[in-house]
Amino acid sequence: MSEVKQAGFKGIVYWICIVASLGGLLFGLDQGFIANALPTINKVYGLSLSGGESFAAILFTGSAIGAFCSGFLARGIGRKGSLLLSGALFVIMAAWSAFLPMYEILYWLRFFIGFAIGIASFVVPLYLAEAAPAKIRGSMGTLFQLMITVGILVISVTNVIFIRLISSHVERLPLMFIVIVLFALVMFIGGIFLPESPRWFMLKGKRDKAINVLKKTLNTQEEVDFEIKEMEEVIGTGEKSGTVFTKNFLKILLVGMFMMIFQQTSGINVMIYYAPTIFGYAGITGLIAMLTVPVVNLVFTFPAIWLVEKWGRKKLLYAGSVIMIITMLGTAIGFLMIGTPTPGVAIAAFPKVLILVSIIVYIFGFAFSWGPVAWLVCSEIFPLRGREVGMTITTMINWYWGGWVILYALTIMQVWGNASLFFIFAFVMILSLVYIYFWVPETQGVTLEEIEENLNNGKKLRNLGS
Ligand code: BGC
Repeated sequence: MSEVKQAGFKGIVYWICIVASLGGLLFGLDQGFIANALPTINKVYGLSLSGGESFAAILFTGSAIGAFCSGFLARGIGRKGSLLLSGALFVIMAAWSAFLPMYEILYWLRFFIGFAIGIASFVVPLYLAEAAPAKIRGSMGTLFQLMITVGILVISVTNVIFIRLISSHVERLPLMFIVIVLFALVMFIGGIFLPESPRWFMLKGKRDKAINVLKKTLNTQEEVDFEIKEMEEVIGTGEKSGTVFTKNFLKILLVGMFMMIFQQTSGINVMIYYAPTIFGYAGITGLIAMLTVPVVNLVFTFPAIWLVEKWGRKKLLYAGSVIMIITMLGTAIGFLMIGTPTPGVAIAAFPKVLILVSIIVYIFGFAFSWGPVAWLVCSEIFPLRGREVGMTITTMINWYWGGWVILYALTIMQVWGNASLFFIFAFVMILSLVYIYFWVPETQGVTLEEIEENLNNGKKLRNLGS
């Protein structure tokens, strides 16, 4: 297949990508919501510790099931339709929660919010990869991650503000939910005006509609013809070679699954969820403990938007892994130096600073690499006909694996000592270097169709993009 010749694209492409990536923002709002809101929920509903935990955990269950269903949804009602469905669920469930219904209902509302996240975390990267022209596909794909980090920060800040300003738990909890409702409304209304993915139209045999969408995003008829031809070639051969359960598909599926496993076993959500606790073990408290991680996470996702097209995906992953290995070792050493603190005796400044700086740099390392690139690569590597199945499985893995890491992290620190967890994360990141080298293809600047053709031709996994 020849090179993609793009003379540029229209401003509407950016609009499409911004609205669609609001799904990422809602993902972030809910990911960051629980940590700060749970103490308030516990007070309002009189939950026990395990009650609070199961309330938090139901989100993960909902997300995994939502991700499972989203493959069928994206195929049946389209990418746009799925996006609208998840937006509507966010609005209804969060608004209902703001009325503080009885606990059993609130619990199931949380499940459906998780369900909506599951759909959004699947369909947004898929939509962005399909609707954005190849030249900026990487940058637009990383927008998804940027919006997740914006969501995590926004909800961290607004929840801290509500906690500080409003002393009544019953009055502050509805406001916490209303923040989610407002953003969900923007996504839903914005989503109504999005075009459907041209690749989905082609899959459904609606060639004219696909052409109409491409005309809105591309500048010349030549570019439109080129993209249509590429899609037709892929769909034409897809029956034999692009279907699921072929050896090639299973190979690329493993690449995607490990991408998500490594992303989650890097320990990122331990920081997102437990940073205040972990900082607390090192004697660091207050706003620094509550807001450092979300701020650094957001700020350093920006460089990724630009670097992902300049350096490519693999270099970013290598750089991220190396930074995360060094900083996890730094954190572990800091905790070894602290040992078991004696109550009443202040913790020495050096290990404290070492841990703080290490975690800040660690978040920086994740934010510009594994955060955006894992989702991006999983949206790029699968053949068109197996894309929904592939992304469904990788998204589910992301949620399930993340859940396991969260479930055991603090216990590992308690049982094996605080440093142990960070040694484990450092070790996992060392393994990730081997994985990147042998398995991960460089997908920068190639069309999704070229990647697919290379896969069908039996090229080595790491050469799929060349
Ligand atoms: C991960 C989430 C994580 C977030 C942090 C995402 O890429 O999938 O699990 O909470 O990054 O920014």
